[in-house]
Amino acid sequence: MQNLSPEIAARVVAMLLIIGAQAQAAPKRVVTTWPTSPGAAPPTTPDLLELGARVYRGACVGCHGEKGDGVGREGKFLAIPPRDFTTGQFIIRSTPLGALPLDADLFGSIRRGFRPGVGMPAFTFLSDREVWAVVAHLKTFSPRFKAEKPGTAVDLPAPPAQLASMAPAGQGVFMSGGACFVCHGMQGKGDGPAAPGLVYVSGAHLGKKVPPANLHRADTFKGGRRPEDIFRAISTGLDGTPMPGFAASLSVEQRWQLTAFIVSLNPPAPPAGTTGAAP
Ligand code: HEC
Ligand code: HEC
Repeated sequence: MQNLSPEIAARVVAMLLIIGAQAQAAPKRVVTTWPTSPGAAPPTTPDLLELGARVYRGACVGCHGEKGDGVGREGKFLAIPPRDFTTGQFIIRSTPLGALPLDADLFGSIRRGFRPGVGMPAFTFLSDREVWAVVAHLKTFSPRFKAEKPGTAVDLPAPPAQLASMAPAGQGVFMSGGACFVCHGMQGKGDGPAAPGLVYVSGAHLGKKVPPANLHRADTFKGGRRPEDIFRAISTGLDGTPMPGFAASLSVEQRWQLTAFIVSLNPPAPPAGTTGAAP
């Protein structure tokens, strides 16, 4: 700086200090990966809602639509329709069938995405705050979020150590107590006798076909492929679709047996820390 007058040099130094302070003041972008827990949701302030509306317009509206009813400009052409947020029904929940999801459930679906064939991308580039913001925004599409409390999360215990040995018993439940084969097929390939007639049961997609999952493709499961994800799907069901929740009709042990059976139909899961989503 020897060519600058002392006065200008002082100004440059002051400017650099201000820029430095601004850089420090800017909120740090925190991006947690699934299945890392996202922590607690920030309070729903006008600021957060405004950010959420912006994220929604930028990243979601084309599929989920201006009114959040799942019939956006591109969304209406997708084979699997984007979720209709106006019903307050979500397929991936840790809460009982029919109850509202926890914010953390919605956070997980947005961060993790559904398999590529479904069209719901994994939003790995949004910061945690942006995901929480868009969660707050999408809750404004259904009056249910004002009127009701989210359900209490159902009891989701840790997988038993001897899970693998429970698979044969699980096949028994699959064919009898759970009657899963009626929809998912004798071999679990998604081709049971009831499969061709299965349709969404509510919302903008009422009456459109929804095929049962192929249980040999855990990598395509919308709620994730880990044993605890499968156990949760069986327990709470997929709301708005014909997939029932079995928390009331099957014991915890029977649901682990079914989980073990489904795990046994699949090749080993990828290493921990990866999403397990189909490439
Ligand atoms: C390219 C289309 C597309 C875009 C863009 C998109 N979605 Fe989706 N979304 C879908 C589809 C398809 C589904 C699957 C519905 C199903 O399987 O029943 C879905 C499902 C969801 C679900 C449902 C989870 C559940 O348990 O029912 C949530 C929440 C969601 N999207 C939020 C968002 C948010 C927030 C954005 C923007 C940040 C977004 N989506 C962008 C297509 C899209
Ligand atoms: C009435 C038909 C029906 C019955 C009975 C049924 N399912 Fe399903 N199941 C479905 C449909 C439909 C889907 C896919 C919904 C979707 O993709 O939105 C599904 C999805 C699933 C999934 C994938 C979850 C995910 O995260 O994507 C699993 C696992 C599953 N079912 C297991 C079972 C088991 C185990 C039983 C028996 C205890 C069972 N299902 C009984 C219709 C059924």
